[in-house]
Amino acid sequence: MEKVITYGTFDLLHYGHILLLERAKSLGTHLTVGLSTDEFNTAKGKQSYFSFELRRKLLSAISYVDEIIPEENWEQKNQDIVKNNIDVFVMGDDWLGKFDDLQCKVIYLPRTPDISSSGIKKNLIIP
Ligand code: CTP
Repeated sequence: MEKVITYGTFDLLHYGHILLLERAKSLGTHLTVGLSTDEFNTAKGKQSYFSFELRRKLLSAISYVDEIIPEENWEQKNQDIVKNNIDVFVMGDDWLGKFDDLQCKVIYLPRTPDISSSGIKKNLIIP
């Protein structure tokens, strides 16, 4: 089994997330998502629209996702990689070069253009 991991907040799940998860899964046979907790988002100065539990519920319905673990801090990644026998770490290329020192293969995938959770929040006008 080739195990892949990726991290993120995945708020207001959108097609940019789905395409990232699809490509991440295609790099192996098992995909783990480290999902940022609400507390970690607060520490990052971010606030998600959907709570951790709702974001987890949405992600767990995606066929590419095999396992979801909480992402609680910046430092846990190497521990997660060892504990879960991860072979490949994947992130969108907005993080290019940031994780090169991790203890497994690191791949940055091109972001899908013109879509983001923050863009949806900014542009959505609810009548
Ligand atoms: N991602 C992507 N293409 C997009 C948006 C996100 O490939 N258009 C990827 C990111 O690079 C990351 C993962 O999806 O690897 C989770 O990203 P996240 O930060 O949760 O989503 P964003 O939509 O970028 O959220 P925000 O606008 O709050 O930064």
